[in-house]
Amino acid sequence: MSPRYIPNFQGNLYATLDFIGRLYTGDHIEVGTRHGASALKVAVARPLGNIYCIDPLENQMFNQEYGNASETGHSATLTAIIEREGFADRIRLIQTYSQPWPLPPEQRFVTGLIDGCHIHPVPMWDWDAMCKVVDNAIVLDNVDLPGLIGCLTRIRMNPEWLLKSTSKRTAIAWKLPL
Ligand SMILES: C[S@@+](CC[C@H](N)C(=O)[O-])C[C@H]1O[C@@H](n2cnc3c(N)ncnc32)[C@H](O)[C@@H]1O
Repeated sequence: MSPRYIPNFQGNLYATLDFIGRLYTGDHIEVGTRHGASALKVAVARPLGNIYCIDPLENQMFNQEYGNASETGHSATLTAIIEREGFADRIRLIQTYSQPWPLPPEQRFVTGLIDGCHIHPVPMWDWDAMCKVVDNAIVLDNVDLPGLIGCLTRIRMNPEWLLKSTSKRTAIAWKLPL
């Protein structure tokens, strides 16, 4: 259910994920997982529903983007963290790139997060794919980066969604009621 009243929530990425995690019940989709902090935030906040995580992890593209190999995640570490936190039954890793969209087009989610590659046009492609399958709210991280400008422009041009900042670096795109 899309909200008639759009909340004016303020907080950093993890506070924002906690907020939308509590607000809706159902499945969540994220692009960009690394060590699982964002996925775990939603899993803890939301007692029911699966968290689908799209991330190739052991990849070179991310390393080049940040010039720091330690910034990328590794599947063994991520899996160990998810098991340690007790969410192996609800956090599902899809270890691949977000393009082409790796899930069936009919698979829907109540909420989403875009936090994968931050180089244009990839965030815009992630938006184009995710806005077709998410019913309520999509969180965006690093909206202050130049690579997000195309993505943010695309959202602002879409009359079905309303973009609201939650901090200098984060925003929520809210699906408007029809
Ligand atoms: C900033 S980290 C994600 C951090 C995570 N959301 C958190 O808050 O804990 C970005 C992740 O995006 C992944 N990534 C980079 N390009 C990607 C792509 N094209 N598709 C999916 N994931 C990608 C990287 O492997 C990396 O783990």
